[in-house]
Amino acid sequence: MAERGFLLASLLLFFCLAGTCYGIVLFSSLPRTLVVTASPNQGQVLVAGEDKITVTWGVNQTLAAGTDSAYKTIKVKLCYAPISQVDRAWRKTVDNMAKDKTCQFQIVAKPYDASNKTVQSFELTVERDVPSATYFVRAYAYNSEDVVVAYGQTTNAHKTTNLFEIQSITGRHMSLDIAAICFSGFSVLSLAGFFVAEKRRAKRS
Ligand SMILES: *[C@@H]1O[C@H](CO)[C@@H](O)[C@H](O)[C@H]1NC(C)=O
Repeated sequence: MAERGFLLASLLLFFCLAGTCYGIVLFSSLPRTLVVTASPNQGQVLVAGEDKITVTWGVNQTLAAGTDSAYKTIKVKLCYAPISQVDRAWRKTVDNMAKDKTCQFQIVAKPYDASNKTVQSFELTVERDVPSATYFVRAYAYNSEDVVVAYGQTTNAHKTTNLFEIQSITGRHMSLDIAAICFSGFSVLSLAGFFVAEKRRAKRS
């Protein structure tokens, strides 16, 4: 019993250290210091598992030197545009970064290269498990304690420009599967109906 209590306490302490007790980071408190571009044009439709995205990022050169002194890692993510968040609580934007669901798909995480501030780029194929939706790209800068300290994104503050679509193949397959299930359900039902009708007819005659 005491052992279990100790385990629970240490687990709690661990989660405390790893998460909430460290301090909440609000997205609205982050400075937008990174300039991020992505290859898709406004409104372009990309096919998951096939099409590629090239992302570039760097520190805005008009900002004071040393802005990036704490940057250790850059994580680039695919984020849901507002139109694809409507009525979907699991994609909701929350100011508390620990609860934010806007950017669920990491494209790349790279050490920040302070000697090459302007052009760092990465090309990737959109993963097959990315659901069909409208997206933009956002990059977060993390410090040596893995706390997010800055960001940049391809869209404007209201997330209305430079949005692109991803069309998921698995989504397409899923709707085919659903159609197949519906049809086989229908055929089983009609077969049962046929048997019932046949039995009745046999009884009558
Ligand atoms: C760079 O920073 C300046 C000053 O904050 C801002 O006016 C400008 O729009 C930024 N440039 C980009 C490309 O974000």
